[in-house]
Amino acid sequence: MSEVKYDVSEVLISEEQLKQRVKELGAQITKDFEGEELLLVGILKGSVPFLADLMRTITLETVKLDFMVVSSYGSGTVSSGKINIKKDLETDIRGKNVIVVEDIIDSGNTLSCLKEVLLQREPKSLKIATMLDKPSRRQSPITPDYCGFAVEDKFIVGYGLDLDQKYRHLPYISWVKTE
Ligand code: IMP
Ligand code: MG
Repeated sequence: MSEVKYDVSEVLISEEQLKQRVKELGAQITKDFEGEELLLVGILKGSVPFLADLMRTITLETVKLDFMVVSSYGSGTVSSGKINIKKDLETDIRGKNVIVVEDIIDSGNTLSCLKEVLLQREPKSLKIATMLDKPSRRQSPITPDYCGFAVEDKFIVGYGLDLDQKYRHLPYISWVKTE
């Protein structure tokens, strides 16, 4: 069986565009949380480039970090609204301002479940930041508070997004074409 070859050379969102947009999001977050402490929760692994860039554009005095690894149960349980927490927070978020940082929102199933779980822990506030959004794919009603770019329904990679764990390191967003 010959291996499928992918072409990820076509740039959909450039490094420069990503950088500029992240700067705007960071400025907005800084404004919204003026005088407050903030905890950024990165959802591993896809959020890593966005989180790393975003945190450096937020000029609040106290920005803390924590991470989670979550997976939604297989596609057979679409309506179940359940997630599997593979790695939980180390931080007690009660009374804290929390922004969950994601790479992309697709169906929204993962994030809407995660949001419910985190709200039960009674944070002071809970917001969602995502670099990419595919609103046309939504199954669960969830709207990001901070969003980089809305994209159409095509499979994309780069800037944290992977195809079988590949291409996360690309500094731009590309679509995937099969050759
Ligand atoms: P959902 O919103 O629960 O459907 O899950 C979103 C997750 O699906 C993201 O965190 C990505 O890991 C993955 N995902 C969705 N669309 C894409 C894509 O176009 N490229 C790469 N990963 C994607
Ligand atoms: Mg993900």
